[in-house]
Amino acid sequence: MKRMISSMGAIALLAWFAAPAASMAEEAIGDVTNGRIIYQQGKGDDVPACQGCHGIDGNGSDDVGSPRLAYQVDSYILKQLTDFAQDKRTDDTMYQMNDISKALTAKERQDLAAYVHTLKSPYIGSNLDQLRRDGADVGSPHEGKMIAEYGAPDHGVPACKSCHGFHGRSAGRMYPAIGGQNYVYLKHELESFRNGANTSEADIAAGNKEDNARTNDYMGQMRAVAKNLTDEDIKNVAAFLTLAKPTTPGNPRSPSRH
Ligand code: HEC
Ligand code: HEC
Repeated sequence: MKRMISSMGAIALLAWFAAPAASMAEEAIGDVTNGRIIYQQGKGDDVPACQGCHGIDGNGSDDVGSPRLAYQVDSYILKQLTDFAQDKRTDDTMYQMNDISKALTAKERQDLAAYVHTLKSPYIGSNLDQLRRDGADVGSPHEGKMIAEYGAPDHGVPACKSCHGFHGRSAGRMYPAIGGQNYVYLKHELESFRNGANTSEADIAAGNKEDNARTNDYMGQMRAVAKNLTDEDIKNVAAFLTLAKPTTPGNPRSPSRH
């Protein structure tokens, strides 16, 4: 071992291994234990338990239109809770997230983001057959895969992969995981970004926006994508993404996510 370490190459290699390990050594952005307590029990009268809508495993639910939070990028979760608290994003599904986020302190929002990031629940995705039986308008995963991987160049849609990574498993702190997310939620958010793209900056600044218009994406990155999506594109890409797994068969390696 000594001899190996004396070689510069081995030191470089060690540094390469050590670097991700150090950043993985849960430089959590908050107190995971406190986050778990609020997630499972709520806080006082104003904050109901998150698990009531997002599930004990953090997988969310198509029934209430809530997203999977498990293992999501922690800085992304924190940004959303802050945006809800500041009314930069509106929960127009259950109309709860804005009040809930306001009732949390900045530190509690960090604690919750840190906690949900530790939930390594398996990706289940939506049961598309069940949704179809329930009368939901469900798209084609096969068609959606094309959009996720290559975009739709004929009408100005970039590949989702270019920002969200392989199968939407996230690529860097700014880009949330969208693979394995729930179908109802994905469809709703894509429609909301598209509505947001049709809202002028002046109206956004004046607080003149519809509840179902999402405009909290940094530099309008998602609005620029969503504005060119057709209804069919949205249903198709959501159907693909909900079933997309973060790894390929035979290769269990998946980059760690923060
Ligand atoms: C009454 C049900 C309900 C409760 C309780 C609830 N949520 Fe939510 N949450 C939702 C719904 C529905 C959405 C989707 C809102 C939308 O986009 O319209 C959401 C969205 C979110 C998002 C955005 C995720 C993303 O991918 O952008 C975060 C983060 C979140 N909730 C965290 C929490 C936390 C933390 C708690 C507990 C303190 C909590 N929620 C309690 C229903 C709930
Ligand atoms: C140019 C980069 C970029 C591309 C390309 C892109 N996205 Fe995004 N996307 C973002 C960013 C940035 C966010 C985070 C917005 C925020 O901070 O609230 C986001 C957020 C989302 C969300 C919300 C996730 C959540 O949990 O609420 C969905 C859904 C989404 N993107 C779907 C897609 C799909 C589908 C495509 C391909 C058709 C796509 N994105 C292509 C940058 C991109």
